[in-house]
Amino acid sequence: MKFQMLWFALVLIAVETNATKKGKKATVPALIVFGDSIMDTGNNNKLPTILKSNFPPYGKDFPGGLATGRFSDGRVPSDLLAEKLGLAKTLPAYLSPNLNPRDLLKGVIFASGGTGYDPLTAKIMSVISVWDQLTYFKEYISKIKQHFGEGRAQNILDHSCFLVVSSSNDIAHTYLAQSHRYDRTSYANFLADSAVKFVIKLHKLGAKNIGVFSAAPIGCVPFQRTVFGGVTRGCVTPLNDMAKQFNSRLSPALNSLDKKLDGIILYINVYDTLFDMIQNPKKYGFEVADKGCCGTGALAVSYMCNSLNPFTCSNSSAYIFWDSYHPTERAYQVLVDKLFDKYLKQVL
Ligand SMILES: *[C@@H]1O[C@H](CO)[C@@H](O)[C@H](O)[C@H]1NC(C)=O
Repeated sequence: MKFQMLWFALVLIAVETNATKKGKKATVPALIVFGDSIMDTGNNNKLPTILKSNFPPYGKDFPGGLATGRFSDGRVPSDLLAEKLGLAKTLPAYLSPNLNPRDLLKGVIFASGGTGYDPLTAKIMSVISVWDQLTYFKEYISKIKQHFGEGRAQNILDHSCFLVVSSSNDIAHTYLAQSHRYDRTSYANFLADSAVKFVIKLHKLGAKNIGVFSAAPIGCVPFQRTVFGGVTRGCVTPLNDMAKQFNSRLSPALNSLDKKLDGIILYINVYDTLFDMIQNPKKYGFEVADKGCCGTGALAVSYMCNSLNPFTCSNSSAYIFWDSYHPTERAYQVLVDKLFDKYLKQVL
């Protein structure tokens, strides 16, 4: 019950934000996000990693056509959700240069493309582990205290929406490096337990309303289809099974945390919606679901998706995937809208 209330609260707030014009104050002060490339708005730009996207054609549908380090043609779910909450059209990456303290007030993104719950994932990719993202979060809260006072920091902790989105890179890549220690099931369980640990740590640092995305059907991204999907380029079942195992362990664990901790701990099922979109693209107004828009759409990601590649599609809105791993802004918009509706309808 309680977990449905977060979305109910979010929607109320979205409605209420319209009332802000009449002088009423919105209740969610900020959106704060941890995780990987689904949510990263540019934290990798200055890191010594090959996982970057701050060059064209990334950003071709972003305002001004800017390649900001978002792993998409346009905005990513952290931006789209911030917009739904009436906070801002985009949210800054915490490591962006020249952020001033005011830029932090509506929320900030700690997510780093390529990371995972398994510390080895971030190490292999030379990016920021979700655990180190918590260290940056502590620094963020002290900055807010220093510039705007204890009360403001407490308000952000008590009333903000916190999101955690990770596991894809662990499942798709790091598992291969960990398979001497784990079988698929036990690795998925280890990841789910890590996600729960992360939520407990974040809650200890003061966050109250925490949503955690389920794993995605990672076996259906174009890259995995190309490499492991055979001649028909089908979805890769063992990867999707790992994602489902992760979800089946995470969901009840978050439910019991929700009962135990104050605030709201919410499991957000993105698997089913994304899977349905990929299986039935036309239903959602998409033409292509098994190839990315960038390059030939089969393998290109990060530096392989660049402006030297002449094959990039002209209309990314017709595609579910932008590159061989990441959805287009339009697909993200469908997903974010659906998640809102889904959880709202249960409440009404
Ligand atoms: C791009 O694709 C979308 C989805 O198929 C379609 O609705 C839209 O008209 C297309 N835009 C252009 C300019 O072709």
